[in-house]
Amino acid sequence: MTEPLVLANGVTRRFRHGDGVTNAVLPASFTVRDGDRIALIGASGSGKSTLVHLMAGLDQPSEGALCWPALGPRTSLRPEQVGVVFQTPSLIPTLSVLENVELPLLLAGREAYDAALAALGVVGLATLADKLPDDLSGGQAQRVAIARALAVCPRLILADEPTGQLDQATAALVVDGLLAFVSSSNAALVVATHDRTIANRMNTTWIMEHGNLHVAPAEAVA
Ligand SMILES: Nc1ncnc2c1ncn2[C@@H]1O[C@H](COP(=O)(O)OP(=O)(O)O)[C@@H](O)[C@H]1O
Ligand SMILES: [Mg+2]
Repeated sequence: MTEPLVLANGVTRRFRHGDGVTNAVLPASFTVRDGDRIALIGASGSGKSTLVHLMAGLDQPSEGALCWPALGPRTSLRPEQVGVVFQTPSLIPTLSVLENVELPLLLAGREAYDAALAALGVVGLATLADKLPDDLSGGQAQRVAIARALAVCPRLILADEPTGQLDQATAALVVDGLLAFVSSSNAALVVATHDRTIANRMNTTWIMEHGNLHVAPAEAVA
């Protein structure tokens, strides 16, 4: 078996504010491997985004060990290894849609134009390539962010409520695109979502409850 993409052992994340403390993630241990399709579900405030940011290496645990055996040290994580789709809009407003998607390809020293257009095609937005982010709806902007994450063919895709701003039909199309991508590349996909319909399309469901991560197979929580 190949090395895990993410390996977490007793990972916690606490936020201090004033004289109080929020335990956003209580000791969590898990593994993410190539080809995994994981839905991370839980109520608002349960710690999903905090866990996604830890897995992406964008934040560090308060305690516990988190590593990326197949990818290298945290400081070496690059968009072509870990693609992140954030919960809130994250496009660069002065760059066109196409340029936003080209950016990680250019940083990786790769051919950008064709790959970026193909990635926009996956989310059904190739015709908007020349628009600026301000011209897009919230849902379109989120689909461009997904295209930007996929364009560099990362081994791990972390998507934080990627369909939260989309209607059901568009959400289904976006999930089709994400699943088609991971099937063809054997990448791992972790999707934080409120939507059971989306969760049911993954292989595994993880549940966050007040910072507690319950790792269970999908059929156990249906
Ligand atoms: N940067 C932060 N500073 C302080 N508290 C935070 C921060 N990020 C998240 N929290 C708190 O941690 C808890 C979990 O938040 P979050 O991970 O965003 O949950 P979810 O994504 O499931 O809605 C919440 O109580 C939230 O207010
Ligand atoms: Mg969140």
